[in-house]
Order: sequence, then structure tokens, then C-alpha cells
Amino acid sequence: MRLDVQTIKKDFPTLRREVHGRRLVFVDSAASSQTPQPVLDAMADYYEQRRCNVERGVYLIATEATEAYETARRKVAAFVDAPVEGTVFTRNTTEAINLVAYSWVRRRLGEGDALLATEMEHHANLVPWLEAAKERGFELRFVPITDDGRLDLDAVPQLLADGRVRFLAVTHQSNVLSTINPVSELVRQVRAANPDCKVLVDGAQSVPHMPVSFRALDVDFLAFSGHKMLGPTGIGVLVARPELLDAMPPFITGGSMILDVTLEGARWNELPHKFEAGTMPIAEAIGLGAAVDYLEGLGMESVRAHEVELTAAVLAALDTVEGVTVHGPRDVRQRGGAVSFLVDGVHAHDVGTVLDHEGVAVRVGHHCAKPLMRRLGVAATARASFYVYNDEDDIDALVHGIRAAQAFFAAVPERLEPVTTERDPETVGGPA
Ligand code: ALA
Repeated sequence: MRLDVQTIKKDFPTLRREVHGRRLVFVDSAASSQTPQPVLDAMADYYEQRRCNVERGVYLIATEATEAYETARRKVAAFVDAPVEGTVFTRNTTEAINLVAYSWVRRRLGEGDALLATEMEHHANLVPWLEAAKERGFELRFVPITDDGRLDLDAVPQLLADGRVRFLAVTHQSNVLSTINPVSELVRQVRAANPDCKVLVDGAQSVPHMPVSFRALDVDFLAFSGHKMLGPTGIGVLVARPELLDAMPPFITGGSMILDVTLEGARWNELPHKFEAGTMPIAEAIGLGAAVDYLEGLGMESVRAHEVELTAAVLAALDTVEGVTVHGPRDVRQRGGAVSFLVDGVHAHDVGTVLDHEGVAVRVGHHCAKPLMRRLGVAATARASFYVYNDEDDIDALVHGIRAAQAFFAAVPERLEPVTTERDPETVGGPA
């Protein structure tokens, strides 16, 4: 069913805001999405009605809070078609990937092994492997990308030829290029070369935007964040095959994740609690459960169809603006709704600043994917990323703002140009 965006917009308090005297046009959902009222209400309900710790109290509101927390887990597991006992709450995608880096990869890979990633990974799915490789002495290999921003699958057989790749870490959808990667084909190839190769999919940009089934992907680990899928900040998810979690040591130790503790040692709790140490982000987990309800109410097929339509419209609209270059695949079936672009003669940060004054919120910089930016030969891009509350009016506002940036900088005296064009690529885009 087609999304009713005018009605959806009303659910998002932030979208009622004005900025610089204009309607806020929020097109930065790839960084973090907005939160609808039912999610805020679910968290307020926890704080107002059953505010206490979970998994330990015997009194009524403690059992209610535990039930709310575990109901959220069941909803999240069902949303990505995963086993409940393999659905672990974390703080975010980054923590979920670090859990795997510490409890699987650092324990299992060493000298003579290789981990395969891709040139398009954002830092969350790269830095944990760089650090693990440094410590354990295994090799990192990267699937290169083509000039139109897709994985170069022709290069994969050579990367796998010696049978040493024991782990594949790949993003499902690039946060810069928006490319939706052929995960199943990659998995088929890595397992043909080494049947025991484990696979982690970074679903931070895909799970919020399209139907994703952990079982259908047939991978070992799937990581994603609540805050990019209408949920609150501070909650993420690692989905894993339960038999792997069983075989892994805990990542963080302390309370809640134990069955028994003596002064000599401890025994770990059953799954998934073995990986949830200390007091968890309870309100946030409940909020994520409500976000899942909201997205399922819209229907993930409809969410994807809406974004395909919007992406086609934004690509067509940007084609009409001279001097704008878009990165990533042109075919909307191969990409999502994050659109990275450059405007000739105007630095991405300046594009972002002018857009802000027009009320349009985009992300500018390196998008936490510096190796990819180097591969693209750019220090920074502007990125507009669309979601369920965006419509054609937002595209019009974006295009209007880009034209305003072009007009402004065409009018700036020549002596100001170095300030806006010669930035240090190492510092552009902040530290993330
Ligand atoms: N990876 C997030 C982004 O693309 C932070 O903005």
C-alpha cells in the first residue's frame, strides 16, 4: 500500500519545527532518523508506570517492565525473522560489531587467516577489524568497488583463491553510495571457497528501509541500530546464530549475564542474557519495540516502494541541476534512498550551510567512511537521505537549496574562494 506521507509527518514532533524561519526539511535519516509519537509514548509509559529494573524484581511493576523489555525483543526478532534467543540488545551497530570482533574474530582468527571486507564499509564495520587484525596478525582483504559504486564481484574469486578467508564482514547497504550489496552472492562465493567462513552483515542502513530476513540471508551475524529506524538512541541489536553465541565468551561481564558466581569464577546466563551485562537501556529497548510496531504498521514492502519512488524522483531532479554529480548506482533497484552529491565549485560544507538556512538538514563530510571517500577521490560530499516522512516537497526544497548555494557562491568575490575550497581532507567531516 502507498504510504500516506502527510499523515505520517504528523506523527513526528520534530517535523513541526521551524528552523531559520522555515519548515524543517529533514533529509538526514541515514545518520539518525526522527522518532514518532508512539515511540515517545511507549518510553514515557515505561517511565511513568513501571519504572524499575528488569530480569530481577519479584514485585508487580518489575514483572511488567521485564515483560515489556522481553516483548520488545520478540518484536525485534520477528521484524528481522531471527531466533529470539539469538537477538541481543546492544547500544548500537558499532557495539554489536565490536561484540563479534572481540568474542568471535579475536578468538578464532590468527596468523595465516584472512578477513574479507569491502572498500565501502563505514568505520563501524572497519575499525574493529583493523584493530583485531593488528592484535591477532591475520590479514585484511577488501572487495574493491566499481566506478559506479558497486562491489566488483569479478575481483572476488582471486581474493578467495587461497581458501584463507575465514570471515566476511559486509555492509548490506552503503551509507554513502546507497548501493544495496548482493550479499547472497558474496556468501555463496565465500562458503564455496571455505564452507566454515562466518559472515557478518552490517544492516544499519538496510534494516530500517527494506524487508530483511536473517534466516533468508543465511548469514551468521546481523547488526543494526534503533536510532536509524525510528527508535531512540542508545539501543542496537546483534542477531546471531544461537549455536555461535553459545560457543562465544561474553563480551562484557558483570551483573545479569551470570547464572552463578563464586569467588573462584562464574557461569554464564542462558542466551541472549549472557551478552547483556548490567542494567540495559530498558526504555530504549521498549521504544525500539514500538518503532518496529510503527514500521510494521506501514509495511516494510511499502516503505521500500516509497523510497524507490522518492529516490527515482530525487535522482531525476538532481539531473536537472547543472554542476551536480551524484555518487552511487543510478538503478534505483540497486540502491537505497541516501543520495551523496557534489556541487561543482561549492564545498560540501558550504552546500550544507546554505541548505540549513533554507531549512534543509543534510549531512556533509566523510560520512564515517574515510577509505571510501579516498577511493572516490573526494574529501567530502553532501548527502540527502530519505525516509517514510519525506515526499516530493522535500525534494523540491533540496533542489531549491542547492540552486541557492550555487547562486550564493557564484556571487562571492574571488578572494574568498580559498577559504571555501581548500580544506584539509583529514579534518573535514569531524571525528566520527
Ligand atoms: N554511519 C552513519 C552515517 O552515515 C553515522 O551518518
